[in-house]
Amino acid sequence: MLSIQDVSKHFGGLKALDKVSFTIEEGRIHGIIGPNGSGKTTLFNCITGLLPLTGGKIFLDGEELSGLKPSIIANKGIRRTFQAGKLVPSLTVLENVMSGVYDFSRKDIADTFFRLPFKHSKKENELRKQSLEILKMVDMDKAADRWASDLVWAERQFVQIARAAVYTPKILLLDEPASGMGPVETEQVGFLIKKMRDRGITPVVVSHDMKMLMNIAEWVTVLNFGAKICEGTPETIQKDPRVLEAYLGDE
Ligand SMILES: Nc1ncnc2c1ncn2[C@@H]1O[C@H](COP(=O)(O)OP(=O)(O)O)[C@@H](O)[C@H]1O
Ligand SMILES: [Mg+2]
Repeated sequence: MLSIQDVSKHFGGLKALDKVSFTIEEGRIHGIIGPNGSGKTTLFNCITGLLPLTGGKIFLDGEELSGLKPSIIANKGIRRTFQAGKLVPSLTVLENVMSGVYDFSRKDIADTFFRLPFKHSKKENELRKQSLEILKMVDMDKAADRWASDLVWAERQFVQIARAAVYTPKILLLDEPASGMGPVETEQVGFLIKKMRDRGITPVVVSHDMKMLMNIAEWVTVLNFGAKICEGTPETIQKDPRVLEAYLGDE
């Protein structure tokens, strides 16, 4: 589905990504692990078009993505969350989720939020419906009308996931979705990721927390110093001496 071919990203002399290749298969929960600074977030930035590649190519269903604008890539069905991602504090939870859809120009968004209720267009009503539905999935529908600024950390993360998942993207890139969460909330995140997959979304989960990822991922790619060191099922990865070494070096 998504094919990453020899992708490199250099910042001056630093090789944040060095000829990384792997594929994301439809319907499989794909984990990407690696110690801090190994290039995980940079990889997401490259896939979503936020950073131009130094080398290599990325294809979605055979179509090259490299060089396209982030909004175009998002509209092709690749959406993401940000590490410690922010919501717009002055909008409600529902409005934050609605604002995740790139289909609307800035003017349209202003219209959506500031026009009188009886003037809602068909398109807005549909977006509202879909946004409420996805909020229900992350168990935040009762918070739809609360201000984003009033949410606690874990709630914000769930709303961020909902914002990226509205209108069922093909691929959902989650950057450290359980960071700063306790064990109960982390388990909820795992459960939610499986629900997303059952809905037809292919989740790609980045985490430096090997334990968390091993419980939910079905296939894992391991990065260290910008290079792919191995990939496989969680069972094989956990026993791989190269992975253990990378993680020991990190402690
Ligand atoms: N915009 C940038 N400019 C310069 N260096 C960067 C930039 N973004 C990331 N880096 C560097 O690239 C490396 C990989 O970073 P990152 O992708 O954030 O790692 P991870 O998400 O795995 O913790 C780090 O050494 C980081 O300092
Ligand atoms: Mg990161």
